[in-house]
Amino acid sequence: MKQSKNQTYQGVQVFAPATVSNMGSGFDIIGFPIEGAGDTITAYRNTTPDVRIVQVTGYSDIPTDPGKNVASHAVRKMLESLDSHQGFDLEIHKSVMPGSGLGSSASSSAAAVVAVNELLGRPYTKRELVNFAMEGEALVSGGKHADNVAPAILGGIVLVRSYNPLDIVNIPPPESMWTMVFHPQIEIRTDLGRSVIMDRIALKDAVKQWGNVGGLIAGLYTSNYDLIGDSMEDLVAEPYRAELIPGYQEMKKVALSNGAKGFTISGSGPAFFAICDSREMAEQVKEVVSREYEKHQIDFLTYISRVDRSGTVVLERFHVEG
Ligand code: HSE
Repeated sequence: MKQSKNQTYQGVQVFAPATVSNMGSGFDIIGFPIEGAGDTITAYRNTTPDVRIVQVTGYSDIPTDPGKNVASHAVRKMLESLDSHQGFDLEIHKSVMPGSGLGSSASSSAAAVVAVNELLGRPYTKRELVNFAMEGEALVSGGKHADNVAPAILGGIVLVRSYNPLDIVNIPPPESMWTMVFHPQIEIRTDLGRSVIMDRIALKDAVKQWGNVGGLIAGLYTSNYDLIGDSMEDLVAEPYRAELIPGYQEMKKVALSNGAKGFTISGSGPAFFAICDSREMAEQVKEVVSREYEKHQIDFLTYISRVDRSGTVVLERFHVEG
């Protein structure tokens, strides 16, 4: 096992933000965290060799069996890699509903691995921790994707250029970029959301998609919102997943005709989001979409946010000895 310079801490509390993933054409590869929503995990050393989930609050309808919970699963993978037999107790507070499309499971996995890494004296860099948090995603979604866990841990807009080996690239968010995230309060399980997508696409569609990914990155670097919006067009996931979200196509039209620069589904939905070039525009889009959505009689939550730049952060450390 590697170093242990922080082992005097018995406990630590960390926060990992919720994330928008699949930024349009960036299916499984581009995501960013938002401000004001996410999971808080408090981790303590225990005297057993195992990881236990001792408390879940907020959206508490998640497994507490350590083999089925994403947070404990990710931590176990990390401890295995360190050949460590130290056990930990995890208290999880979830502020985002599971099955939201906002990386609820990713926030838990990210927070858990960052917390335990902290208690072990930071044997891993934040980038290395993405590998373990991804194991949590594989447990619940059937796919080992990092477009939620990488931005949740690192902050900023993140491009997963390669999975094998994992290569993560930070993309600077345009200064004036705001997002309006709209979350209908229904659940779409990520494994269902992944099962409706075709596993092959036509070459002409692939050509269009990678043209769009290139355009999206260029647009983000140059704050060219027309290019960002056009390039968010997605031929891989959105056409299939849109059908699972009541009112989606209609809300897309409403948002785009009221000033949104780009609009698509976050993760596997039901949350969707608009890219806007100012806070005022994001507020305006929120107002019109909220008004139109009322006819569906489905409760919803909205978030107006910039791209969170911090990723997972340590909030507090407990019980420092000597
Ligand atoms: N990229 C993943 C997917 C995110 O679209 O399935 C899941 O939240």
